[in-house]
Amino acid sequence: MQRVASIAAMQRLARQWQRAGKHIGLVPTMGYLHAGHLSLVKRARQAVGKNGVVAVSIYVNPVQFGPKEDFSKYPRDLKRDLKLCRDAGVDVVFVPDDREMYERRGGSLSSPDPRKNLGSTESRPTGFSTYVVEERLSRTMEGAARPTHFRGVTTVVAKLFNLVLPDVAVFGAKDWQQATIIRRMAADLNFPVRILVAPTLRERDGLAMSSRNKYLTGGLRAQATVLWCSIQMARATVKKLKAFPAAGLKTAVKKLVACEPDARLDYVEFFDPDTLLPVSKVKRGAHMALAVFVGKTRLIDNARL
Ligand code: PAJ
Repeated sequence: MQRVASIAAMQRLARQWQRAGKHIGLVPTMGYLHAGHLSLVKRARQAVGKNGVVAVSIYVNPVQFGPKEDFSKYPRDLKRDLKLCRDAGVDVVFVPDDREMYERRGGSLSSPDPRKNLGSTESRPTGFSTYVVEERLSRTMEGAARPTHFRGVTTVVAKLFNLVLPDVAVFGAKDWQQATIIRRMAADLNFPVRILVAPTLRERDGLAMSSRNKYLTGGLRAQATVLWCSIQMARATVKKLKAFPAAGLKTAVKKLVACEPDARLDYVEFFDPDTLLPVSKVKRGAHMALAVFVGKTRLIDNARL
């Protein structure tokens, strides 16, 4: 397995693969890998075959974090991540740093302090001023709760597409809105890449796997199952009653979340899985997404009902 840190080296490699006719699969991540990430690696391998190459990027992208979010304490363990990638048969791990992604131009640095102000809206990284913005699908849910988040995601994913030149890129259904926005971006901007969305991997009690689950210490871990319980409750209601008003289901979810002493509902939404437009009557096939603070940790989950 190769480990690549520089943009120049990554682009050189990707061009070599392309010239050799190899199919390239990319799995973008922010690291602190878990079985959910590794299932995307498996899916990428399936898609490109054994003669293809699978690249995993590991980069905690500062631009997608708001100024009051957990960028600096986001969990990191590169040594462990590299071992997991090696064991999973990854060919290349791309591990750029902030200077490489947002500061360095032609070998010189445009700012003496590359970490300064990255990710904040008021003052953007010096040496970088071009963003990719999806303007429709990113207005609701995560986009409403985290106003600059998707701009950061689409920008970094567009950069990764230009650096790794993937034929296929794999994203998780865990972040349904993100995957939908990236699919739209790839179509709108004509990136020659097929976007695959792989199912959400869960712990035994239904909690969606997430790097942020590490924050759930003590009694918080048990309370975090309230997201999955809410989905199950909505699913059961829709199954029994065929169609149910979204407003009523929202109230029921609110009540369920309120039963947990350290949980606070940020939003719950019922929507069409392709357009992400809210539905007022929830039927089978509609999608549900919710965000819940458990202690200080913000968790998201979603599922088809
Ligand atoms: P990260 O949260 O590390 O997730 C990387 C990929 O893993 C995403 O496509 C996400 O949907 C998927 N994933 C996370 N948990 C999963 C689970 N339990 N089951 C299946 N897939 C799961 O999402 C990001 O990073 C970033 O926004 C990124 C796309 C890398 C851009 O910076």
